[in-house]
Amino acid sequence: MMENQYYPFVNTPLPYDYSALEPFIDEKTMHLHHDKHLQTYINKLNEVLEKNAWLQSYSLEELLYNLNQIPIRVSEPIRNNAGGVYNHRFFFEGMSDKKNNIPEGYLKKEMDAAFGSFEKFQKLFKEAALNVFGSGYVWMVKSGRGLSVVPTKNQDTPVELGLFPVLALDVWEHAYYLKNYNDRAAYIDNWFFVVDWKKAEEKLMGM
Ligand SMILES: [Fe+2]
Repeated sequence: MMENQYYPFVNTPLPYDYSALEPFIDEKTMHLHHDKHLQTYINKLNEVLEKNAWLQSYSLEELLYNLNQIPIRVSEPIRNNAGGVYNHRFFFEGMSDKKNNIPEGYLKKEMDAAFGSFEKFQKLFKEAALNVFGSGYVWMVKSGRGLSVVPTKNQDTPVELGLFPVLALDVWEHAYYLKNYNDRAAYIDNWFFVVDWKKAEEKLMGM
């Protein structure tokens, strides 16, 4: 479970060192991404909640799940900033220094059922990531029909769609331009080396 689910939000540390994902994702990018980009979403989310105290009792996921019950004046900054916090935490937690591990056990069984094989999943996921126009994420999500690959725009989340996220890839340019410039494909290939499939299995099993 993610820590710090309620206002005031703080920038919880990465679950590994900034350099842990080298050489696939570089230390400088991790500093920029966590300390600057995620911090900004946290600050802006706190600012919105400070002015709308009635929302301070909502957890991060409850804010996102109930977006359409919140007045639009408030729901737009919540969608962008609570989404920015949720998505970044999910993305960062889904990686580790256990380089090049692969899906096993229950996760492997579910992925094989949904996609045919790990290789077919990787091809499908990469295509979806390359096809995100502008900024967004690609997810592996669980629904009543099993696992599937779903893109989201900007800082939208699968939570507001009622889907259960298992794995996230941030394809905003800030996630890769220091190292890979505009080469999103190279970034995706590198990211596959640092995915923590054990963590994805834990998410799938609701742990
Ligand atoms: Fe990001």
